[in-house]
Amino acid sequence: MPVIKMTDLDLAGKRVLIREDLNVPLKEGRVSDDTRIRASRETIEQARAAGARVMLMSHLGRPEEGVYEEKYSLAPVADRLSELLGQEVRLVKDWLEGVDPDDGEVVILENVRFNNGEKKNDDALAKRMAALCDVFVMDAFGTAHRAQASTHGVARYAPVAAAGPLLARELEALGKALDDPARPMVAIVGGSKVSTKLTVLDRLSARVDRMIVGGGIANTFIAAAGYNVGKSLYEKDLVEEARRLMEKAKSNNAEIPVPSDVICGEEFSESAEAHPRWIDEVTEDDMIFDIGPETSERFAEILKEAKTIVWNGPVGVFEFDQFGEGTRKLALAIAESDAFSIAGGGDTLAAIAKYGVGDRISYISTGGGAFLEFLEGKTLPAVAVLEERAAER
Ligand code: 3PG
Ligand code: MG
Repeated sequence: MPVIKMTDLDLAGKRVLIREDLNVPLKEGRVSDDTRIRASRETIEQARAAGARVMLMSHLGRPEEGVYEEKYSLAPVADRLSELLGQEVRLVKDWLEGVDPDDGEVVILENVRFNNGEKKNDDALAKRMAALCDVFVMDAFGTAHRAQASTHGVARYAPVAAAGPLLARELEALGKALDDPARPMVAIVGGSKVSTKLTVLDRLSARVDRMIVGGGIANTFIAAAGYNVGKSLYEKDLVEEARRLMEKAKSNNAEIPVPSDVICGEEFSESAEAHPRWIDEVTEDDMIFDIGPETSERFAEILKEAKTIVWNGPVGVFEFDQFGEGTRKLALAIAESDAFSIAGGGDTLAAIAKYGVGDRISYISTGGGAFLEFLEGKTLPAVAVLEERAAER
């Protein structure tokens, strides 16, 4: 369903309240990774250039509601944003009573989660937020899976509720990859547990041509294919489920390929020695920490031929270099492929940064949980309310 877009509105002189996801990591009072701030910059600059009086909202971390705590203050974010925009971004601490930014000014409202009622999407709080503005812009894709006062309630009561450019870009990129993908479509689903990604695995196995599984998830599939996984992390009670997913893929003319070789270690540590093994040679003492060279070669070929790639999760313990080759080779294969590629999730972004392929992935999502919920096919509540408001017009 369509939404109203910020870029279609006349913002001149208007009080524009923009919800961003500026939930970034901090180190010693400074922003240590500003990816999300940089991602929202274009939206803020566009609103400012259109003559809006810009108020930004975001959460940071998970503070106890109703309690101000300095470590959850958006002050470091305001500093970084001021640098990026080349103008001072004023941090407003008590803002529910009203804020009055000047034309062309950008202010940032202190952490929305300091307010009682934010997380439970309290109506009274949402109405007070809505009263601050003429136009509410939802641009926080990373928080779009939360129905909270600053992401959902406020959109119901604001005079106008629109999607910001970043949110619109995210939805467009994800839609392009999932709704009508150019084929072959390949998904990489890595991570430690099948159980946390069961819905994603289930949904994708009916849509993709190939699904590469990695990490602890792969171990469960390896066990399902009848091989010994030694002491590897895997989920015994989901082996049957993994078998069902492989069958399901097959009945859709798709495949969940199982590694033919792996890299094992005897302990989870930075200094653990790496032992390459054929898949049928894994011993009782082994822990599988990566895919082997033959397998990564085969998977890289699959990726090079793909026309659409969705990547969520590494295929090995890439934090340790001796178990990072599989993830590195797949990252490079994605970079070299001319597929439309989309990646998301904290570990995936860390791998992309480590192997320096960021500028060769078509779209990198700012969402972690939101990205996963989109892949699961769930409706993002903060998007649904924008659709409802657009339908009312
Ligand atoms: C995130 O970093 O995943 C988003 O900002 C959402 O944060 P939350 O999980 O605390 O709601
Ligand atoms: Mg590419």
